[in-house]
Amino acid sequence: MPLPKAELHLHIEGTLEPELAFALAARNSVALPYADTEELRKAYSFSDLQSFLDLYYALMAVLRTEQDFADLADAYLARAAEQGVRHAEIFFDPQAHTARGVPLGVVVDGLTRALAHSEERYGISTQLIMCFLRDESADSALETFEAARPYFDRISGIGLDSAEVGNPPAKFREVYRRAAEAGLRRVAHAGEEGPASYITEALDVLGVERIDHGLRCLEDGQVVARLVREQIPLTLCPLSNVRLRCVDTLADHPLREMLDAGLLVTVNSDDPAYFGGYVEDNFRAVRQALALDQETLRRLAANSFRASFIDDRRRAELLAEVERHTFEPVED
Ligand code: ADE
Ligand code: ZN
Repeated sequence: MPLPKAELHLHIEGTLEPELAFALAARNSVALPYADTEELRKAYSFSDLQSFLDLYYALMAVLRTEQDFADLADAYLARAAEQGVRHAEIFFDPQAHTARGVPLGVVVDGLTRALAHSEERYGISTQLIMCFLRDESADSALETFEAARPYFDRISGIGLDSAEVGNPPAKFREVYRRAAEAGLRRVAHAGEEGPASYITEALDVLGVERIDHGLRCLEDGQVVARLVREQIPLTLCPLSNVRLRCVDTLADHPLREMLDAGLLVTVNSDDPAYFGGYVEDNFRAVRQALALDQETLRRLAANSFRASFIDDRRRAELLAEVERHTFEPVED
C-alpha cells in the first residue's frame, strides 16, 4: 500500500485522461482536433503555463452533462485510491464551463454525485474548492460567486488559478472578502510563475490560509521567513513544475531545501493527466530524484493532513495512519 496522504492541489479538469476525453467526445458528438489518444498525447509538451492552459481549456469542450462530470470525478477517485489518497480537496473551474454554456448546477451536481460515494467506495473524504480564473475580470468572479451561493453547502472554499503573471491577487479582493463573510475557506495559486510579492499579497489582501505552489517564495528571504513563522502551507506540484518549466529537472526541484528551511510543504499532482503522474507518482519521482528518506516521506504525508481542512478527529486518525505505515522495499 502507498503512503496515506491528502491531495490538496488537484484540478479535476486536469484529470481528464485522453481515453476519457475521446469517450466523452463520442458520447457528446464533439469533434476533437486529434486523430486519436496517441496524437493527443503528443500535444502534451509545454513551454510554460499558458501553453498548457490553452490545451486544458480546449479539451474541456467534451465535458457537457452532469454524467460527464460524475464520470470524470469518479475516474479520479478510483486512481487516487490506488495512490494512497485518504482525503482530497478538489478544485474546479466554474467559469471555464459556464462560458461554454454548461450551467453551474450541472457541474456541481455531477461532481458531488461522484464525491457522495467516495468515502464508502474508496475510503477518501472529499471537499470541493471553486476556483476563479484570474485572467477573467473581477466582475466575472463576483458574478460566479453569487451564482454559486445556492451550492455553498457543497463547496468548502474558493481558490484562484489560471494565468498568473499580470493578474495579481489584489484584483480579487472583493470576492475573497465575500467568501470570508460566507464562512468559506480561502486558498490561491501564487508564486508559480508570478513573483514572491504575489504570495504576500494573497496572504495580506485575500486572507488565504494556504498558498498553491508558492515556489518563487525562495526569491525573497523575508517571504520565506514569514511562511515559516506562520506555518502557511504550500501545495507543491513537482511534476507540474518540470512540465511547465518552472524548474529545469526534478533533481533541481527545491523541495528538500524548502523542507530544510522549515516550510510546511506538501506534494500534490496539479493536473495529473497532463503532467505524467498522480500524487503517489509525484512522491516516487521526488523520492528518487532527491534521494528522500522514509522519514522525509512520512513528514510530507503528515504535512498534507496538517495542511488540510479536515476536522481534528479525522486529522488525528489519518496522522496515526501515517505513523503506522510500513514502507515496501523499493526496486529502483
Ligand atoms: N489551472 C490548472 N492548472 C493550473 C496551474 N498549474 N496553474 C494555474 N492554473 C491552473
Ligand atoms: Zn494548480
